[in-house]
Amino acid sequence: MAKILVTGGTGYIGSHTVVELQKEGYEVVVIDNLSNSNIEVLNGIEKITGIRPAFENIDCVDYVSLDRTFEKHINIDAVIHFAASKAVGESVEKPLLYYRNNLVSLINLLQLMPIHKIKKLVFSSSCTVYGQPDVLPVTEEAPIKPALSPYGNTKQISEEIIRDTVHANPCFQGIILRYFNPIGAHASAEIGELPNGVPNNLLPFVTQTAMGLRDELKVFGDDYDTPDGSCIRDYIHVVDLAKAHVVSVKRMLDKKSGQQLETFNLGTGLGLSVLEIIRNFERVNNVKVPYKIVGRREGDIEKVWADPSRANNVLGWKAAETIDETLRSAWAWEKHLKEIKSS
Ligand code: WQD
Repeated sequence: MAKILVTGGTGYIGSHTVVELQKEGYEVVVIDNLSNSNIEVLNGIEKITGIRPAFENIDCVDYVSLDRTFEKHINIDAVIHFAASKAVGESVEKPLLYYRNNLVSLINLLQLMPIHKIKKLVFSSSCTVYGQPDVLPVTEEAPIKPALSPYGNTKQISEEIIRDTVHANPCFQGIILRYFNPIGAHASAEIGELPNGVPNNLLPFVTQTAMGLRDELKVFGDDYDTPDGSCIRDYIHVVDLAKAHVVSVKRMLDKKSGQQLETFNLGTGLGLSVLEIIRNFERVNNVKVPYKIVGRREGDIEKVWADPSRANNVLGWKAAETIDETLRSAWAWEKHLKEIKSS
């Protein structure tokens, strides 16, 4: 079976993708610098699949280490590139860290892949590239607007770098996956989202507040032009997202596409507001989430949800998990973390 290198493979989406790749029989090599994850994640993967992936603790920004990794792990058929910094707020405070980490790692990868005869790349992008779309649901043809954060800009620039690289190298093939809002955790609760410190994202803050680790959730604004005034997003189960990567790799390896570069929105097509997420989370898990409405967060867009029809029709992939199941899995993961801490 084919061999896949997963950069950022101990991260939230990366680890769930490693599990789904192994379930489909792929051999997986994980590289990660553990800057925003920990090596314990490999234990979780092994508990789920029975297979501990090969692991190299290296930073993709380090060209020589990355080259050595390709020399050591030969016959790689494709790369899935997750490794990147991803906190929108932090990127505003530390732009150069984001441009260096997210762009240099990609450029190193694209330079080294052909040297090691690897021609297929799946790239982790984000709906952030759209900014606030003019038309909803948003399709892949929507205009790319000026980024609202350095993080979003690194995703836009990365897509351009891949586009130009593919154009210059006829044998190179790429699939760009634009994620909407990944949430939830694997049903086993052996892996999930492990935010460092105070969570930036909504769901881990909700689950930590419900667990009593946070006093209350701050809802960033209820004066938007939405039915209940809070922002709307397209929340997708991380396992559904992971499965889309397996389908993308399979499509490239089976040479199912005549195109060198394809781009897909990975969302459910359903927009939910922050207040709806809170209410659904409380209902599904029979817990309370104390919250307070505060001012808007800088850089937040008002509303975005996907038109996932291209991924549905071309990849044959569709988000399958309901929002109830997704929110249930997020809570199960938070309870698992509490058990681990108290053991
Ligand atoms: C969702 C909604 C907040 C926290 C970003 C990136 C995206 C991806 C996911 C990496 C917003 C509100 C949040 C809180 C709140 N990043 N919120 N209180 O900003 O849509 O997307 O993270 O893969 O690329 O852009 O996600 O979870 O931060 O926010 O009210 O404590 O929840 O205002 O409306 P976001 P988020």
